This record gives sequence, structure tokens and C-alpha cells, in this order.
Amino acid sequence: MTRALYANYNGPLYQVERASDAKLRDIGVLAPGGYANAAAQDAFCFNANCVITRIYDQSPSHNDLTIEGGGGNGAPDTGAPANALALTVGGHQVYGLEISAGMGYRNDATLGVAKNGEPESMYMVASGTHVNNHCCFDYGNAELNNKDNGNGHMDAINLSTICKTGGCQGSGPWVRADLENGLFPPTTELVQDPSNTLGSMPYLTALLKNNGQSSFALKVGNAQSGKLTTTYSGSEPTAKSGYSPMHQEGAIVLGTGGDNSNGSIGSFFEGVMTAGVSTEDADSAVQANIVSAGYGSPTGLAGVLALNSEISLRSLSSCCSNSYLGHGGSASDKAVVTAIPSASTAAALQDVTWIIRRGLANSSCISLEAQSYPGDYLRQDKLELYRGPDDGTAQFAQDSTFCPLAANGGQSGIAFQSVEYPTALIRNYDLKGYLATFNGPNSWDTSIGFADDASWIVSRPLAH
Ligand code: AHR
Repeated sequence: MTRALYANYNGPLYQVERASDAKLRDIGVLAPGGYANAAAQDAFCFNANCVITRIYDQSPSHNDLTIEGGGGNGAPDTGAPANALALTVGGHQVYGLEISAGMGYRNDATLGVAKNGEPESMYMVASGTHVNNHCCFDYGNAELNNKDNGNGHMDAINLSTICKTGGCQGSGPWVRADLENGLFPPTTELVQDPSNTLGSMPYLTALLKNNGQSSFALKVGNAQSGKLTTTYSGSEPTAKSGYSPMHQEGAIVLGTGGDNSNGSIGSFFEGVMTAGVSTEDADSAVQANIVSAGYGSPTGLAGVLALNSEISLRSLSSCCSNSYLGHGGSASDKAVVTAIPSASTAAALQDVTWIIRRGLANSSCISLEAQSYPGDYLRQDKLELYRGPDDGTAQFAQDSTFCPLAANGGQSGIAFQSVEYPTALIRNYDLKGYLATFNGPNSWDTSIGFADDASWIVSRPLAH
């Protein structure tokens, strides 16, 4: 999605379809071997809904992924919204693939993918902050008929908080191998991650290598820095038959289980599958290359009201000096207005840092992406503000699009008007974020303090 993975690749990375006229557009690279040309997508999709219809395989095998059809355990999938997951890689604004429930990609007629016990490796760059415990955010080898054909018929990386066996250590997410009818090894056999570091990584590398006969290994790392850690290296599952040797079928799946179980969510940025098991040196070189690509690098703009600018929003409420609009740091948390003392933790600073993105429902307005949760936006629900992942619905786009206005009542700041409720502005009330209408029916609509509470100073980002 984000960049060429061959030094001289100059072809398409992915294809989008514009809903209004069903026209297709390939999105390529800015230069041979370079980053995705997101500007081409932005121009083609300006004020239009686009979905990702094809992810090109850059290899000569041309094992492109298209939207997955029905399977043994899931109706045909839909395509992911093309604008859901803006990010900066190496200083270039690009888009990733944001998978919500019901979305997935597949190729059931591949060339050169491991079958019946052949060795293979694969990695993906994904997000530890966009996961759930539903089956199955997978990338890798799966069945040719989209059905569960039995143990060992899959060999895919899974990133999730699924804990079916109990006894899971921490709250996840975990990187495991989906070898069909189970994620392996049990989390108790993984190198432990007691402080749950994967869950706070916006960009992580997950790698699976399987000799197809007797053993497999998993590695994880931070896609922004450092090296990979081997979290498992051992035998194929032995408690049940069918895994040793493996029975891979050679389809490629992305975002669902082998039988198209599609309740999972996840984010995907890039991935590779190889014929044969990669060497340790190759794994390390891949991780070094991913780190050098610069996932989540600064956008290059900060503190200004402009697309891709990283900002914090300081409240002008009389109650709250040095207080900023943020999210509480977990998926269900309401937006809060928090005082930020100079000794604040890195996490607290991240929670009040946003990136201004093109409005999801109106390209002339804006959406506010949480800097440390790629693909999550400030959104309203029943007029209260939360952070949540773009699920590709028109409702979410409406809920998360705001038009900046000159602030009310002579204030010096900016007001943010909801496109969904044009009388409503983002307001600090009782240290929480609301959509408020002057003198409206809700407690947070009170006229007292309204002008101050609905005015914000666009300031330098407190994180980065
Ligand atoms: O192995 C876990 C899942 O179980 C597979 O992805 C799916 O095919 C089956 O339902």
C-alpha cells in the first residue's frame, strides 16, 4: 500500500474505485522504488467515496489481492475505504488499508505460493492499536475455496486479542500463526510481553516462517525502531493432527480467516510472502529496511490549521488554562479536556496530539486523526466525542467531519462545526468533549461560557 518493495518497482501499488461513477484508478509510486502517490488518490477521490478494490503484487507472480468473495463462514466482503488510514512514511503522506468487520482481500488462483508442506516466510507491517478479538485478521496462506478444509490448510500471520484457550498473558494483541482451526502457539508459549508493548505500537512488524514440515517461528518488532524479537521458535502443533507436515493450499488472504470469518479489524501497510524460509540475516535486513522507511515520521507541518498538520487543540474555556482536547487512550474513552503540566508522560502528550486530515465526509472540511492511533478519529456519538476507528460507513464519516470557522464571540481561536449537525460546535463542557448547540436542549448546550468553551487555539503538537 505505502511503497515499492523492489528497488526499481515502478508499477501500481493498489487500485481504487470511485463510487459515484464506478471508475477505477491505479495508484502508483512517486518515483521508481519510491512511496505511494497519494496525491493521485486525493485528486481522483476529491469529495467522492473511494474503496480499495485491488492490492497489486509487485512480484513477477502478479498474485494481486481483490475483494474477497463469500466463504464457509462469511458473506462476501466489502472493500476498505481508501481514505481511512492516512499516515506519513519517510515524509510522504500515503494511505494504509484499514480493515473493519466484513472487509477482506484474497487471491485463490496464485502462482508460486507454498503448498502441501513447502517452506515459506511472510511478514506484514500492521498496527498494534487497531485490533480486536474476532476471527481473524490474517495475512498469508489460506484455502483455495474460502472454506475451512482442516488443520494445517492455512499458514498465515494473525494479529489479534483472541484468547480462546484462556490463560493468556496480558491483554494482547499477540502475533501468532493461524494454521487453521487455531492460532499457534498458545500465548503461554510466546515470549511474554508483560507490559503489553505491542498494544501501544502504531506500527509493528510481524513475521512468520514455517518450514512446512516440523517447525515454525514468529518474530515481532517495532516498525519504527529496533530489531525483531523471536517470540516463538519450535515445533508445529502436535496436540492435534494435520499440522506436521502442513497442508497449505496456496491462496493468499488478507484481513479474514481462511474460511472468510470476517469479524476482525486490523490495519495493513505492507507485506511480503516468500517461497522458502528466509534466513535470519534476511529477516534482520527486512526489519532494518522497514525502520529506515520511516513509518509514522513527522508530517512536516505542525501547529497550523492545514492538511496533514500535527496539532494540539488548547481550550479557551475560562476554567482551564493549559488544557487540551484529547482522548483517554482506550477505544471506549470519551474525549476529554486535560490539563497538561510540563511533567506529563509521553502517553498523555500523545493523547492530545492530532493530525488534521481531509474531512472524511467532505473534502473541504477536516477530520482529526489521533496521532498515536493511526486510522482512529475524533468522532461524535449521541453528541459526545470519542476516539474511534473509521469503519468505512457514511455514518462514521459524518460523525467525524468538522468545518473550521472563526471562533464565536470575538474569541481569537477556531470553532469546529459538525457537518452532521451544522448548529453544533466542538465544546469543552465539564472537561469532556461534546457537540454543543448554543442554548440547545442538553446540559452541555448552556449559553453560559459557550463562546469560550467552543473556541480552540490550534497549537503546536504536544507530542513529536
Ligand atoms: O484458525 C482460526 C480460524 O478458524 C481460521 O482462520 C478459519 O478458517 C477457521 O474458522
